[in-house]
Amino acid sequence: MPAIVLVGAQWGDEGKGKATDLLGSRVDYVVKFNGGNNAGHTVVIGDQKYALHLLPSGILTPGCTAVIGNGVVVDLPVLFGEIDGLEARGVDTSGLRVSTNAHLVAPYNRVLDKVTERFLGSRRIGTTGRGIGPTYADKMARTGIRVQDLYDVPILTAKIEGALELKNQVLAKVYNRRAVGVAEVLDEFLAHAERLRPHVTDTVEMLGSALDRGQTVLLEAGQATMLDVDHGTYPFVTSSNPTAGGACVGSGVPPTRIDRVIGIAKAYTTRVGEGPFPTELFDNDGATLLKVGMEYGTTTGRERRCGWFDAVVARYATRVNGLTDLVVTKLDVLTGFDRVPICVAYDVDGERTDSMPASQTAFHHAKPVYEWMPGWWEDISGVSEASGLPSTARAYLDRIEELSGVRVSAIGTGPGREEIIGVHSLLG
Ligand code: GDP
Ligand code: IMO
Ligand code: MG
Repeated sequence: MPAIVLVGAQWGDEGKGKATDLLGSRVDYVVKFNGGNNAGHTVVIGDQKYALHLLPSGILTPGCTAVIGNGVVVDLPVLFGEIDGLEARGVDTSGLRVSTNAHLVAPYNRVLDKVTERFLGSRRIGTTGRGIGPTYADKMARTGIRVQDLYDVPILTAKIEGALELKNQVLAKVYNRRAVGVAEVLDEFLAHAERLRPHVTDTVEMLGSALDRGQTVLLEAGQATMLDVDHGTYPFVTSSNPTAGGACVGSGVPPTRIDRVIGIAKAYTTRVGEGPFPTELFDNDGATLLKVGMEYGTTTGRERRCGWFDAVVARYATRVNGLTDLVVTKLDVLTGFDRVPICVAYDVDGERTDSMPASQTAFHHAKPVYEWMPGWWEDISGVSEASGLPSTARAYLDRIEELSGVRVSAIGTGPGREEIIGVHSLLG
């Protein structure tokens, strides 16, 4: 089996964790390839609910090796907090593998994320405040700290000193904050170094030889297409590449080994943080989606902004990621609306466009053009066969499939592991 990529097709929180968990028992490796603990994935197994941030969702599946790839930024106290939490609940995390090239979130970058947002005021991004942006900025500026640096203390010290020379100027002179000492950063890193050591691996070699042996590798994105730093709603994006191309860069698995790209989309749309969102609702329907969908951030607890399904975004996600399959989640949340709109195009300053506007200004001006589909009132929670869906719900999915340009291969009808309708196999 080759490698499979799983990405978010909207602005995040589409249910990637649940989808990965679903595939976990049939794949040998689940690799997180981008982002860090800005992600929040909820997985519900029986009466147990797990919130994962830094750990790949495959960690919950016995026999599946969970991997933190080189494209991830790792906050060590958060990582071990999460590991301790899972171990206390009986989950074996000893098999976790962490790339030697992954970058580390330094304490000063957590501070910088928060003070930068405050400084931006009304122009803020609405980040998760976890230091993700500044850590990726350091990576690109070549002043980052990597996992392997933990095991060469003179180099680690020199890199921290180098980074702090500038950071402390900025912290003290621009933001009026206290300067950070080299020793306190070293202490935080080294406190976890020995515990991390057995997990540290050349993950590129490990995944390449697994694929050579015919094993299956699932590359799982954090965040989503519209939050991609290159392809999303820049600057209201995260600082990594959650799209399918990023899966290769962030894992070292080459494009020639990938033959499936699975996109996850909600049957409607949500977004957390600032930035344009053409189908956003400010009325009772939006409040209903928030309440019924329980749309509160897994990481920050913030209310998610809610809106109708946007087929322009879905088509764009199909194009950018080369989606082969779409998993539509949370269809159950749409029960009880007389009519369910789908945004089929945008009106940009009086002109209709069916594709993603190329300029930020045009996207900010985009107004949704809706097609109204008849709704349904039947409770579809937990329905596990497509034939068990009302005909109007099936027609809604058919229209999504047609407009998105990718087949709908599975449909979520509830948060639980079993609450899913399989239409086409996602593997093989
Ligand atoms: P992720 O970040 O993409 O992994 O998604 P999150 O876990 O942040 O958010 C998705 C939420 O929807 C979680 O609370 C899931 O338990 C829940 N969920 C996933 N699929 C379904 C579904 O089909 N129906 C319902 N009602 N909830 C779902
Ligand atoms: P999962 O993996 C939804 C959003 C933040 C903010 C922007 C930048 O659970 O889908 P950052 O802290 O990354 O610099 O914030 O990106 N954001 C997410 N929104 N789901 C996520 O992850 C997100 N990760 C980041 O709200 O708007
Ligand atoms: Mg999430």
